[in-house]
Order: sequence, then C-alpha cells, then structure tokens
Amino acid sequence: MNFKGRDIVSIKDLTEEEILHILDIAEGMVPIARGEEKSNLLEGNIMASLFFEPSTRTRLSFEAAMKRLGGNVIGFARPGATSIQKGESLADTIRTAESYCDVIVMRHPQEGSARMAAEFASVPIINGGDGAGHHPTQCLLDLFTIKKEKGDIGKNKVALVGDLKYGRTVHSLAYALAMFKAEMVFVAPEQLQMPSEVVEECKAMGATISFETDLEKAVEDADVLYVTRIQKERFPDPEEYNKVVGIYKVDKKLLENAKKGIIVMHPLPRVYEIAPEIDNTEYASYFRQAFNGVPVRMAILALVLGGIK
Ligand code: NCD
Repeated sequence: MNFKGRDIVSIKDLTEEEILHILDIAEGMVPIARGEEKSNLLEGNIMASLFFEPSTRTRLSFEAAMKRLGGNVIGFARPGATSIQKGESLADTIRTAESYCDVIVMRHPQEGSARMAAEFASVPIINGGDGAGHHPTQCLLDLFTIKKEKGDIGKNKVALVGDLKYGRTVHSLAYALAMFKAEMVFVAPEQLQMPSEVVEECKAMGATISFETDLEKAVEDADVLYVTRIQKERFPDPEEYNKVVGIYKVDKKLLENAKKGIIVMHPLPRVYEIAPEIDNTEYASYFRQAFNGVPVRMAILALVLGGIK
C-alpha cells in the first residue's frame, strides 16, 4: 500500500483494504489528537487549507490534525479576502498555492472542482467537499465512528436520513457502505432521494438497498441512524426548500421504538433534525463523531505526506 503523494478526491479512489489501513492508523493517533501525547511527525510540512465554502469541523479538524503532528498551516476560510475576488481562476489559485505547501485541502461549491484541481497540482489534493459531489474524509471519519461504536462496519443496517439528493456526505458514505456490504435504507422525501447513479453504482457493487419515506418505520430495525441537514444552499428554488424543511426530526419519542444499541450520527451542522434532548443520551454519537475527524485526518495527512506508511 502506498499513499505518499496521492490525491483523496473520492472514497471510490480507495480500496476496502486501504480504508481499513487508514482507520487503523487513525486509532493510533487518538492520544495525540487528544493532546495527551506529543508528535513531530510532520514537522517542516505545510498544509494549505483553501475553503471557498463555509466550514467549521472540516477546516478546524484538518488544521488541528496538521498542528498536532507538528506541521504548519496556511490558507483562507473566505475566498472574498483573496484574489478570487479580483477574478482569479481556481486553476491559478491552485497553481499558486501548491508552490507554497506540501498538501492542499480544499472545499469548493462546484462538483468536480477537486478532481480538476488534482489534475493541475503536483502536491496531493484532499477534497473537503465539492458541491453536492463527494466528501471522502467525512466518510472515513464516519466509518471510523461506526467501527468504533458498533464493533464492525458491514454487519450493520444503516439508515441514511434526510437530504440524500444534495448531501455529499451521504453520497460518499453510500459508496463506502456498499463496499463493506452493510445493508442500507435510504430515508428521504421523494424529491430528495439518493441520485439514481449512486443507487445503481452501489447495487452494482452488491449492496442491499431499500427505500423509505417514513422515518418511524426505518427506525425499527436500524443499527445506525445517519441523519443529515436539508442542504438549503443547493436548492435552486427556495419554495422547494420550504416544502421539506423540518420533515424529519429525531427525538426521544421516535427512538422509543428503536433497536437496542442504535446510534444516532450526524455530520453536523444540525438545524432542526435532532432534538437537543438526545444530546445527553446513549444514542448521541455526533459529537464523538466530530472529534474523530481529528485522528482520521491526522492519519490521512501522515499517509499522503509520507510521514507514515
Ligand atoms: C457537511 C458538509 O459540509 O457536507 N458538514 C461537514 O463537513 N461536517 C454537512 C452539511 O453541511 O450539512
């Protein structure tokens, strides 16, 4: 297995074996991620963090990951403060940034932007989300969380809930769960169901998939509830958003009928989807999930920069 110099644009760029290797390395990173142990594994390396879209967890956990490993970070969180404001192209921004760093983490509203950047850049490109496309590092931390909390990935029935059309986290996760042969149920209103190309590809990989509009039904036999936000910013028509906002809400009452040991995950930010009354229950996995972004991103950075094999 060789990760050095590789781009991480889609979860489909990785094999099952490679994914498990990343998760193993991430497990070893946990004490460093918590600040209990110190490391200078990536000392002298610079990560550029180029965020053309809002972010809290992805950007901060990548920056924390790089710094916990002794590396440095440059970048921007708002394209308005850069020459993009003057009309500079993405290609030119990437060509410039790569001459200042060893790895680029980017988030951009356009689907396919990270793949395009990877063609221009000679340093590794890590996709932190490209429009409604992919979010491979979120997917890896989601898998890490499932494995850690449920003991296994493939043996679960995972309900993906909410905006499956525009949500990039669920696109990446569906591919990965198909790879691991987990059973999936796609819970969404009809107009926000999983894109047919994702469904077809997952089926071709041998996935068992069912569809549901009723969250109460889906909860009965799920092991993992993966809840997502309705992606307001990707709706061409605000009226369409108003029709579906608040459609699913996970609260204590809903979980009364759930299987014992069910966990509730969410990539965050949540808006209306999970009642705060869940936060202090055994179901709530989402804040641990957000923490897991740090060790998983440490593993990814260490591998693509060659600090670890
Ligand atoms: C997600 C994203 O940006 O796709 N957030 C994240 O990275 N944790 C989910 C979302 O914005 O709803």
